[in-house]
Amino acid sequence: MKRAAIITSSDTGYRGEREDLSGPAIKEILEREGYEVVSMDILPDDREMLADRMAEIADANAAELILTTGGTGFSQRDVMPEATEDVIERRVPGIPEAIRAYSMTITKRAMLSRAAAGIRRKTLIINLPGSPKAVRESLEYIVDSLAHGIEILTGEAGDCARK
Ligand code: MTE
Repeated sequence: MKRAAIITSSDTGYRGEREDLSGPAIKEILEREGYEVVSMDILPDDREMLADRMAEIADANAAELILTTGGTGFSQRDVMPEATEDVIERRVPGIPEAIRAYSMTITKRAMLSRAAAGIRRKTLIINLPGSPKAVRESLEYIVDSLAHGIEILTGEAGDCARK
């Protein structure tokens, strides 16, 4: 079973002033797709804390997939892409490109998401936007393609070119 970790970046969520609806939306979709959700964290919009937690999960090989929500916009406190880029070893630009391309058919504001994605060791890390609506739209679009990528990453599937 593929394991997934969810990280919500939200100052107000961390302080308990706002209920996190986006983390649970991700959990619902992932469990429907057969993933085991091994952890859910709500952290403040703090680059170092976010980066440390992502690295901790990947380095412990605790999950094959980390999905984050929030902190991808233009607010001064939005640092999720920077935190992600601090810890990834290889960039995966196609996934955020695909999410933005699809999301642009729903709202032109999708161009305002600075989301990043990449690989650290055997863990794929993907930033999703912050709102539950945006999270659902984005994740539903990519989720069936993720399984194949994770299988290649963990060695369960072969290189497509060699088939
Ligand atoms: N993507 C989808 N699919 N649907 C949306 O409603 N909202 C956008 C964008 N991506 C949106 C979306 C908006 S309004 C912003 S500001 C950016 O995501 C960044 O969101 P964040 O700062 O909450 O991460």
